[in-house]
Amino acid sequence: MCGIVGYIGKRQAYPILIKGLKRLEYRGYDSAGVALINEGCDLNVYKAKGKVSDLEEYVGDKDISGVVGIAHTRWATHGEPCQVNAHPHYSSSGNLALIHNGIIENYATLKAKLQAKGYLFKSSTDTEVLVQLIEYIQTNKNLELLEAVKIALRSVIGAYAIAVLDKRMPGQIIAARKSSPLVVGVGEGEFFLASDASPIVEFTDKVVYLDDEEVAVLNPAEELKVVNLHNVGVNPEVKTIDLELSQLEKGGYPHFMLKEIFEQPDCLNDCMRGRVNVEANHVVLSAVIDHKERLLAARRFIIVACGTSWHAGLIGKHVIENFCRIPVEVEYASEFRYRNPVIDERDVVIAVSQSGETADTLAAVEMAKKKGAFIYGICNAVGSSIPRNTHTGSYIHVGPEIGVASTKAFTGQVTVLTMLALCLAKEKQTIDEAAYLQLVEELSRVPDKMKQVLEMNGRIAELSRIFTYAHNFLYLGRGYNYPVALEGALKLKEISYIHAEGYPAAEMKHGPIALIDAEMPVVVIATQNGMYEKILSNIQEIKARKGKVIAIVTEGDQVISKLADDVIELPGTLECLEPLITTIPLQMLAYHIAVCKGKDVDQPRNLAKSVTVE
Ligand code: G6P
Repeated sequence: MCGIVGYIGKRQAYPILIKGLKRLEYRGYDSAGVALINEGCDLNVYKAKGKVSDLEEYVGDKDISGVVGIAHTRWATHGEPCQVNAHPHYSSSGNLALIHNGIIENYATLKAKLQAKGYLFKSSTDTEVLVQLIEYIQTNKNLELLEAVKIALRSVIGAYAIAVLDKRMPGQIIAARKSSPLVVGVGEGEFFLASDASPIVEFTDKVVYLDDEEVAVLNPAEELKVVNLHNVGVNPEVKTIDLELSQLEKGGYPHFMLKEIFEQPDCLNDCMRGRVNVEANHVVLSAVIDHKERLLAARRFIIVACGTSWHAGLIGKHVIENFCRIPVEVEYASEFRYRNPVIDERDVVIAVSQSGETADTLAAVEMAKKKGAFIYGICNAVGSSIPRNTHTGSYIHVGPEIGVASTKAFTGQVTVLTMLALCLAKEKQTIDEAAYLQLVEELSRVPDKMKQVLEMNGRIAELSRIFTYAHNFLYLGRGYNYPVALEGALKLKEISYIHAEGYPAAEMKHGPIALIDAEMPVVVIATQNGMYEKILSNIQEIKARKGKVIAIVTEGDQVISKLADDVIELPGTLECLEPLITTIPLQMLAYHIAVCKGKDVDQPRNLAKSVTVE
């Protein structure tokens, strides 16, 4: 979703802002813009529809001088993607320029009031309403920008992260947030501003995460000043971020997505480091040690998540119910939060989110917290909003995920949920010692088995070429592999725009079987496990209707290999760990099909990495 970058200091702002916008491209956007104050105190705004490179082209040889500036990538909500709707937005006088992430829900009411006072609007955005409102308050009450921003934000309903420039006060940027992330980078005599730390990391590792309803004044001549909307001063906590620049670059791979697929063995080792100890035969999660009683006393767990994280949650349900005998429900956060669910202090809510910023998941957390539930976060982005709003949690530690289609975060989430199940099962004594030991050992072997699967990349790339013609795909799996089928289908549609559906294999005959003909590729996860015979029958049903079967099987399978049109053989593992292995070829298949079709794999159309609006 929208991205914010800001700079104020001694250097020229424009190159820093453009580089920052490029680092944020992964979030998904459709237009970009920049505002700069030059030495003569002119406030120049340049905007373009399309990519950051289109903005650079548009800027050409215009005046880009200035040591203070703000920049934005917009993911359209109010009004189509076009130059007029792109941010920054000027106020009527041209004195102010503002960028904004989020949604001002009461913008129509505010706009009508301003129109009644004679204000004219150029764009269809909610953002322009905010900058006009700030200007109206500033001029009407003769206030400084900071005061006007606070008053304006007190009358706003909705979510925002904003940055504002006033050309009459070129030595400062005012920034504020509510329900939309904003990070201030603290340098020597300079400040940076961004929606996440990625544009900041090459300049400083010192950051301040703003909290809801906090307003920051970035003035390089002074210390960082933070106040809340009600004028109470806040002592900004400067944190050191642990992020390498190399983690934000492609490192020789053609796309971030492929890099991230290949990183998975290392990511899982990082995720398990200090947690899975094969020598000592145990798994530890500090959250379980610290909150053992609360977790074990739960009458049920409710996993809330969106997208790929929801699929990881489905696998978490299987594994926790299987080993811990605790009932688990898995909910789309967007449905859960508006459903008035039955929930109280006996429940544990597990929020699963890569970004830690997904608006619906965050709102579900807040709602469940109000109802007394204990909240456990499973997130990747350290210091993001969800981990800061939960009682406890476990990071997945897979490093920044840049590709919009989630890959390594999914396997990281599944790994943490599996470790959680193992820790709890051990405490609850619902798993016998031999099974526990076997699981711990096998879990530690998963990264090496993933490496074996990754060696098939060339073959899967070849195979993918055949399927670029397809208009539809079906993905089938059962048990632990049913969520993998859902995830495989999601990956394909996200990046190749081929319609794909995931289904529990046995449900196929209750509808999707009607679609099967010689044109329909069906990916079936048919590994050697308790469901093997059943899935074999499902494959027979597809072949009887001339469907094309791509079977994901366990090495050495003699039966399905003869039936299926194409076979991908994977190393065997315990059934409950299979998703960590079976997911990899489906990620590669989606990737290569999308590449063959010439699609923008890392930034698929209309999608956003971090969905900060509901
Ligand atoms: C977006 C992303 C998905 C992600 C989902 C949930 O739709 O494109 O990849 O799975 O949001 O995001 P979260 O950060 O909460 O895991």
